[in-house]
Amino acid sequence: MSIKYYDNTQTFHLTAKNTSYVFQVVKDGYLAHLYWGKRIKEYNHSNKLRFTDRAFSANTVAEDRTFSLDTLPQEYPSFGHGDYRNPAFQVQLENGSTVTDLRYVSHTITKGKPSLEGLPSTYVEELEEADTVEIVLEDSLLDLKVMVTYTAFENFDAITRSVRVVNNGTENVKLLKIASANVDFRDSDFDMLSLPGAWGRERHVARTEIRPGTQSVESRRGASSHQHNPFMALLRKDTNEDYGEVFAFSFVYSGNFLSTVEVDQFGYSRATMGINPFDFSWLLEPKEEFQAPEVVMVYSSNGLSEMSQTFHQLYGKRLCRGEFRDKIRPILINNWEATYFNFNEEKIQEIAKSGKDLGIELFVLDDGWFGKRNDDTTSLGDWFVDKNKLPNGLNHLAQSIRDMNMEFGLWFEPEMISVDSDLYREHPDWCIHVPNRRRSESRQQLVLDFSRKDVCDEIISRVSSILECAPITYVKWDMNRHITEVGSASLPPERQRETAHRYILGLYRVMEEITTKFPHILFESCSGGGGRFDPGILYYMPQTWTSDNTDAISRLKIQYGTSLVYPTSSMGAHVSAVPNHQVNRITSMEVRGHVAMSGNFGYELDVTQLSEEDLGIIADQVEFYKEIRPVIQFGDFYRLIDPFEGNQTSWMHVSRDKKEAVFTYVKVLAEPNNPFIKVRLKGLDPEARYEIVELNESYYGDELMNIGINIPRMSGDFTSIMWRLKA
Ligand code: DGJ
Repeated sequence: MSIKYYDNTQTFHLTAKNTSYVFQVVKDGYLAHLYWGKRIKEYNHSNKLRFTDRAFSANTVAEDRTFSLDTLPQEYPSFGHGDYRNPAFQVQLENGSTVTDLRYVSHTITKGKPSLEGLPSTYVEELEEADTVEIVLEDSLLDLKVMVTYTAFENFDAITRSVRVVNNGTENVKLLKIASANVDFRDSDFDMLSLPGAWGRERHVARTEIRPGTQSVESRRGASSHQHNPFMALLRKDTNEDYGEVFAFSFVYSGNFLSTVEVDQFGYSRATMGINPFDFSWLLEPKEEFQAPEVVMVYSSNGLSEMSQTFHQLYGKRLCRGEFRDKIRPILINNWEATYFNFNEEKIQEIAKSGKDLGIELFVLDDGWFGKRNDDTTSLGDWFVDKNKLPNGLNHLAQSIRDMNMEFGLWFEPEMISVDSDLYREHPDWCIHVPNRRRSESRQQLVLDFSRKDVCDEIISRVSSILECAPITYVKWDMNRHITEVGSASLPPERQRETAHRYILGLYRVMEEITTKFPHILFESCSGGGGRFDPGILYYMPQTWTSDNTDAISRLKIQYGTSLVYPTSSMGAHVSAVPNHQVNRITSMEVRGHVAMSGNFGYELDVTQLSEEDLGIIADQVEFYKEIRPVIQFGDFYRLIDPFEGNQTSWMHVSRDKKEAVFTYVKVLAEPNNPFIKVRLKGLDPEARYEIVELNESYYGDELMNIGINIPRMSGDFTSIMWRLKA
């Protein structure tokens, strides 16, 4: 059993691989946090809670002046009875009051892990893989039940949390805040790490010392966003890649989120993560319930590397689903940067044919194949093939590419609607909007109201018709703007603030239905690149287009930051043309290849226009990648040199059996008279002797890891090496 309950002290001890997590029911039924960290054999209250009379901290009972919620480390704090820190939970009653009092009623421990109705979540395949405890808290005045659920995984240092509320009372209750996880640490000796960014430079790494008061990462954009990823980690001050404690929080959700750390007056820190309460409320009528999404909490006592390994394995194997979860992913060629909207059947076939000759396995037709889409101002929603560009239809084109012995993939942006579209002319109220206000366009498009069932049904039907009409085995699912004027024509006034979350629930339903209906299709999500690279989407689609920025040098930071949480098998990475279309940089085909080959590899340029020399390099890259891709896509990933710290970066992938590895090193700018560089490798078997194929040299793993390997002197800007290691 990985969850133990000690009746005499009402203490719960959860163990997940090498992690312990302990909490206790204390005085009058409040749930107090006791410990989260390295696994211990048995918890015997060495750090038992201590109480004292604190000024300006209200007491739950007048006679006991030492007990106050203001100073209690809590598991699921609500608002109003004296805890002035950020609450995890707040509701508003019909009388206007916003006070609740959640007390322990009961609990159940079960084997396995239940799924969350309508929401993505990590899962188990065998009951033995995890234990789950559901704690029932109750506000007896309201007859409101709050189920706080924890799952401890047997084989991962991961504990998941989620919350469900049931209104058993007789009056309406309005949820104002419902965080999915809350942890009250009894110190604040932490740095906070997060992954901020922007379009074209997603998931850069930010680390700052935490200070008294609240610091946060959040999205109010209707999507998890380029700007902040739903991830936050608290690191001990001395924690680095391979050393020190990490407490990480990752939200399995794709919409507005908020993650905060608040350092209070006594130096305790409260970490909270959940749906963003900003512009959110949810009406719970009597007998209704609400399920909040899952937070995955990962502990590492060996630095960020171990944290990432846990996320990679857990998300790769127990969040991603479907046929492609464990399958080698195809090398693709996408026509977007090759043609943008300007293509016809012949041009597409030429690109596909050249791609095929180079050994590429999948052709992806990007934006512009439907409606009258000759630029980005029109036709979203009109998912009918444009016969001007493809006079013989999609099936004919797809078949002709299949006849080349290549797979065929197609781009969609199902959540959007162009004002210039038949769909909008027919249904002007089908977009997210509020009455009598401007409908702000972004990329000249509006967002379909996926909080509405009729809209979702129509889109499922339109997308399905296309997927049924041609042999399509890959879909790129794009989403190119954020939500404004949040409101839905189908919701009553008192439910308008439910729109953003209902949108995400609608999106999840659409994704669930389409991906279930077409299990043979590999889905890759995209949101102007990596604007929705989050665990929620990975549950439906095992790959994400990492960034619209395909410049190899920009990608060093983007892919490094992304690797903190997300497995390589989830990261789309392509070689594109130079000068690069996003940053205008010129880099060699080699460095572009080495960086892109460190993810799910592909090309995104007009191969029909390349020199013989470049074509030769591409053919070699494709062959090389086919050999290394099992290690790249499904091996363990190690960061060796941090691109945020200097002029170079390095990483490696090691097969799970440690028999093979791929080492990559990139130097950004040439430097005069620079020192010799040596890099220490990681993750190898110290006892095994590895041949470095490209050097024709061999060394034991311990030598490569403890001493390191010399990097040859490289001249010029933007240079790289990629070496195969074989035991
Ligand atoms: C944004 C995507 O990220 C690009 O790769 C491309 O698909 C365009 N949208 C198409 O409009």
